[in-house]
Amino acid sequence: MAGLIPKSFIHDLLERADIVEVVDSRVPLKKAGKNHQACCPFHNEKTPSFTVSADKQFYHCFGCGVHGNAIDFIMEFDGLSFPDAIEELAASLGVQVPREEGHDPQKQHQQQAQLKNDTDLMAQCTRFFQHQLKHHAHSDKVISYLKQRGLSGDIVKRFQIGYAPDAWDGLLNALGQQSKARQQLIDLKLVNVNDQGRKFDFFRDRVMFPIHDRRGRVVGFGGRVIDSDGPKYLNSPETRLFHKGQELYGFWNMQQRLRRPEQICIVEGYMDVVALAQAGIDYAVASLGTATTTEQLQRLFRTSNRVVCCYDGDRAGRDAAWRALENALPLLKDGIDLSFLFLPEGEDPDSVVQSSGKEGFERYLKEAKSFVDYFFEHLAEDVDVNTESGRSALLSEAKPRIERIASDFYRESLMQKLAQLLRRETSQLERYVDTPKQRKAKPEAIKMTPLRRAVALIVQYPQLAKVVPVKAELGELKLPGMDLFMALHQQCNERDMTTAQVLEHWRDTSYQKALEKLAVWQHGLDEHNMEQEFKDIFVYLIDQYVEQRADELLKKGQQTPLNKAEKQEYLMLVKHLRTRN
Ligand code: UTP
Ligand code: MN
Repeated sequence: MAGLIPKSFIHDLLERADIVEVVDSRVPLKKAGKNHQACCPFHNEKTPSFTVSADKQFYHCFGCGVHGNAIDFIMEFDGLSFPDAIEELAASLGVQVPREEGHDPQKQHQQQAQLKNDTDLMAQCTRFFQHQLKHHAHSDKVISYLKQRGLSGDIVKRFQIGYAPDAWDGLLNALGQQSKARQQLIDLKLVNVNDQGRKFDFFRDRVMFPIHDRRGRVVGFGGRVIDSDGPKYLNSPETRLFHKGQELYGFWNMQQRLRRPEQICIVEGYMDVVALAQAGIDYAVASLGTATTTEQLQRLFRTSNRVVCCYDGDRAGRDAAWRALENALPLLKDGIDLSFLFLPEGEDPDSVVQSSGKEGFERYLKEAKSFVDYFFEHLAEDVDVNTESGRSALLSEAKPRIERIASDFYRESLMQKLAQLLRRETSQLERYVDTPKQRKAKPEAIKMTPLRRAVALIVQYPQLAKVVPVKAELGELKLPGMDLFMALHQQCNERDMTTAQVLEHWRDTSYQKALEKLAVWQHGLDEHNMEQEFKDIFVYLIDQYVEQRADELLKKGQQTPLNKAEKQEYLMLVKHLRTRN
C-alpha cells in the first residue's frame, strides 16, 4: 500500500484548486448571482438545482442533496477512490502527491518502483512491436494486411499497433538479455516458460494491439493472427499489472479526443474499436473478450450519460449483452441511458463501417433497443404471456432484477411495462416487487439548537472565527458539541479556511456527517447579518455558560462554604444574569 497522503498537502491542494474549474471541466456551469449552477449530474432534472460556491469551494444539490468539496466531486463524478481523486486533482494542477512513509516504507518503495519498472517495460515492448511493424522482414505482409482492413498509417500510430515477429525469441532477444528483465517479461506474461524450462515469446507473428489503462500506460496486449494457425486472438493473461475486468480497450484513446462523449459504444472486438475510429467514430471501446463488468460499466456511466452495448447478433453476443445488462442493474441512475444494439447476423461494427461508413453505423445506433424493451424481450423470449403460468414465470424472473435497480425512473418504467405484460395494474404489482426506499430528496432535517447554528455558521463562513473571538471558558459549557465548536473556532481563527478545507479536515471523523449536514443547512439569513447572528448566538452561549457556572457554585456553596474568589465570581455571575437584556 502506498503511504498516507499528508493532511497538510490536501489542505494546500484545496487552497490551489478551484472547484468551479474542477466542476466546469466536467459539467459546464452557468453563473447565477454569487454562485454557479448546472443541472445536477447525479440525478435527473430539467431545472438546475446543483450549485457551486466559489467562496465556500463547495457544491450542493438542493434536489438530491449531494454535496462536498472538489475532492468529493472528483470521487463521485470520475468514480475514483479518495487517494485517486487527490492524484487526479494534483495532476490537473501539475503537482506531485507526497506520501508519508507507511508501516513498511521499504516494501512500499519497492512496489512503486516495480510498477514504474513494469510500465516502462510494457512501453518498451510496445515500441519494439511498433518498430517490427516497420522493419521486420514480414513488414510488407503485415502492413498490407492492415491496409486491406482499411486502416491508415495515422490510425495505426494512434492505437500504437505493432507486429510481434514470427520467431520464438524476438522479444526475448530484444528486451530480455538481462536476467532481471527476462524474469519481468515472464511475470508480465510476454514470455512463456515450457516444462523443460525453455523460454519463448508468448505472441508470435501477430498484429499487436496494446491495451492502455486510463492514464495511457500499456498494461497488456491483444494479438491477432495474420495468416498462420492458432486462435484468432491471444490476450495477455492476468498479471500484477493487467486486470481484464477493469480495463477497456480504446478508453484512453477515446479520452484523448473526447473527454465527455455524448455517447459511448461498447463493442466486442479490438478491430471494431480501431475500424470505428478510422471511420471517425471516436467513442467506441471494447470490453476485453468477456462480458462487460460492473466496474467497466461504472467507468463508462461516469464518462457519458448514454451507453450503447453493441454485440453480435449470435448466441455469444446475446449472452454477453444480457450479462452486461445484469451487471448494469445496480448502476442505473435517473438521467442515464443504456441501450442495446444487435447487428444483423454476420455483421460487426467493423464490417458495418466498411460497407456503409460512419453514417451507416450511426443509423444503427439510433435504432438501438431501449433498456426496458430489451429487458422484457429477453425475459419473455421463452415464456408465453398468454398463459397464467407464463405470466407468473415472467414475474418471478423480472422481480429480483427490478429490485436491484435504484433509479426511480427505470424501476417505474419496468413496472409499467411489466404490468402491461401481466395484464395488471401497476399498483397491484407493487405488492410483489419491493422497491428500495426512495433516496431522500432533501437532506434530513436537523433540529437546530443555538450551538448547532453557531457550528453551521462557522463551517459555512469560517472567517467569522476571526471576527468574533471566543473565551476559553466557554469550552467548559456542558453542551453536546461544545468541544467541536471550540476546535473549529480555534482552527478557523488560526488560519484562513474555506468550507471545503474545514470539511476536509474532519473527513473520516465521527463529526463528518454532522458537519456536512450543517454545511448545507439553509440559514435563511442575509449574508450581511451573518456577523450579528453569530454574535447573538455567542451572547446566548455566554449566558448559558454563566447560568451553568452560577448553578455549580450555588450547589457547591450549599455543601462547603465558598472561598473568597468563588464568592466574588458568583456575585459577578449573578450580576451578569440580572443585567442581561
Ligand atoms: P471476433 O471473433 O468478433 O473478432 O472477436 P473481431 O474483433 O471481429 O476480429 P476480426 O474482425 O476478425 O479481426 C471479438 C473479440 O473477442 C475476443 C477478442 O477480444 C476479439 O476482439 N477473442 C476472439 C479472443 O479473445 N480470442 C479469439 O480467438 C477470438
Ligand atoms: Mn470483425
